[in-house]
Amino acid sequence: MTRDPEPRAPVSFDENIKPLFREMDRESMEFAFDLWSYADVSANADEILERLGDGSMPCDHPWPAEHVELFRRWIDTGRREFDTDANSKHDSRVDR
Ligand code: HEM
Repeated sequence: MTRDPEPRAPVSFDENIKPLFREMDRESMEFAFDLWSYADVSANADEILERLGDGSMPCDHPWPAEHVELFRRWIDTGRREFDTDANSKHDSRVDR
């Protein structure tokens, strides 16, 4: 399962967003874009957020609100690909 970062921690595609997409999501959506590709998700992020937010995608299993919020936060904080500052995350430890 995906790690849910603390509210002010950076959200990265590699660590937090990509794991939210199931293999079947990726396969079903391949006709349009690759949900495991940073470049594709980043380029289509607004449309993807809209579908996640209105619950129409994935059609068999609407995302819980906290996952939609995480995706929104990833967009709002600059669509990072990787968590390049792993150390600062350990400094502000949150035990979960
Ligand atoms: C721009 C955003 C998106 C568009 C326009 C879109 C459009 C579509 C369309 C036209 C289909 C095929 C017809 C249908 O089953 O409704 C489909 C299927 C599917 N999409 Fe998306 N989709 C989007 C985003 C997503 C995302 C973000 C996910 C996963 C998180 C997803 C998961 C799926 C799945 C699982 C299916 C297969 C559903 C089934 O046949 O049971 N889609 N999508």
